[in-house]
Amino acid sequence: MMRIELKINGSTMSAEVDDDTPLLWVLRDTLKLKGTKYGCGIGQCGACTVIVDGQTARSCSLAATAAVGLEVTTIEGLSANGDQFVQKAWQDIRVPQCGYCQSGMIMAATALLGKKLFPTDEDIDREITNICRCGTYDRIRAAIHAAAN
Ligand code: FES
Repeated sequence: MMRIELKINGSTMSAEVDDDTPLLWVLRDTLKLKGTKYGCGIGQCGACTVIVDGQTARSCSLAATAAVGLEVTTIEGLSANGDQFVQKAWQDIRVPQCGYCQSGMIMAATALLGKKLFPTDEDIDREITNICRCGTYDRIRAAIHAAAN
C-alpha cells in the first residue's frame, strides 16, 4: 500500500492504494464519489467513464497511481463547477431509461463537446463507445446536439 494524492474535481484528495488499485474503487469506495458507476469492470461498457486531462478514461481499467498529477473530473465535478449544460440537455430530452449508464454517457459527451463543438452523428457514434442496455442512443445523440446549441 502507498498513499497518493489525486486532483479530482479541482481538489487534492489522498488515498491509500496498491499499485494496481483501479481509480474507480478510489472514487467510489475511498472518496464516496458514487456517481461513477461499475458495470463490466473490464473496460468495455463505459459506465465508469471519467475525464482525465480532457480525455475520457475508463476508471475501472486505469490504475489510480496512473492518475497522479493529472486532472480527474467525475460527474460530481461537472455539477460542482456549474458546468451542467450537458446534464440540462439530458434532462430536457429525457434521455435516461434505467439511468445506470448515463453518468458515463454524460462524461463521454462532455469530453466530446470539449474537443468538437458541433459533433455530427458520425462523430458521436465513433467517439462514444459506451453501452446502454436500454438502447437510448437516439436520445443521447439528440441531447448532444441540443447541448451543442
Ligand atoms: Fe469500466 Fe465497464 S465498468 S468499462
